[in-house]
Amino acid sequence: MMALVSRRLLLITAAILCSLSLRIECRSKSRFTNMLCESYNDSYADFKKCKLNLLGRGRVGADIYVKLSELPIDNSWINWSIYRRYNGFRPFLYNVSTDLCQLLENSNVLSFQGLVMNAIMTRSNLNHSCPYNHDIIIDNLEFSDDFLKNLPLPQGVYKIQLRFATYKVWRVQVTMFFERAE
Ligand SMILES: *[C@@H]1O[C@H](CO)[C@@H](O)[C@H](O)[C@H]1NC(C)=O
Ligand SMILES: *[C@@H]1O[C@H](CO)[C@@H](O)[C@H](O)[C@H]1NC(C)=O
Ligand SMILES: *[C@@H]1O[C@H](CO)[C@@H](O)[C@H](O)[C@H]1NC(C)=O
Ligand SMILES: *[C@@H]1O[C@H](CO)[C@@H](O)[C@H](O)[C@H]1NC(C)=O
Repeated sequence: MMALVSRRLLLITAAILCSLSLRIECRSKSRFTNMLCESYNDSYADFKKCKLNLLGRGRVGADIYVKLSELPIDNSWINWSIYRRYNGFRPFLYNVSTDLCQLLENSNVLSFQGLVMNAIMTRSNLNHSCPYNHDIIIDNLEFSDDFLKNLPLPQGVYKIQLRFATYKVWRVQVTMFFERAE
């Protein structure tokens, strides 16, 4: 199953929300603009939800619900890659694989992966170490400027591609687009 949120619609709506609240500062300089969830096998992992919500003042939250059929999970890897838009999306900065269970046990907040994982953990039921014996729920995860304070990303449009494997088989891919304005 694939879910797609129209990026243009979101941007237009965000712009309108911002201009309507002229007296209120439109603070966030970074936000998600689109999200795409893909399962390689719906019987194994099924996306019941994959959407961005407008939270007002240009803020956008991401909601994900993945139903998992074979539990528990105590072996999982994430493959991270980041792209920046520049005549099409070009690989940028990160392209690594990480042991998710290890990262959850010992997330080093100084690494990019640690930062992202910590942000996700505050907004999801992924907030404990392996094994996982439940569906995965992420609730209104925002892409905040705080998130990037240790990571000086130039302004631009980025794509983060997260591919998840369990037991050495790639299961799902989540692609998030975000924009950093200056
Ligand atoms: C898809 O997942 C189901 C449930 O885990 C499994 O029985 C099936 O073999 C998988 N199909 C493929 C093509 O891997
Ligand atoms: C990521 O790195 C692998 C090998 O380490 C390479 O095969 C792959 O093309 C790279 N992907 C990107 C998007 O740079
Ligand atoms: C990420 O996954 C892709 C596809 O499986 C693989 O080709 C690539 O080498 C992986 N990147 C790293 C750094 O492991
Ligand atoms: C994880 O989050 C849930 C829901 O917010 C909360 O009930 C639970 O106590 C948290 N667990 C840990 C280990 O922080």
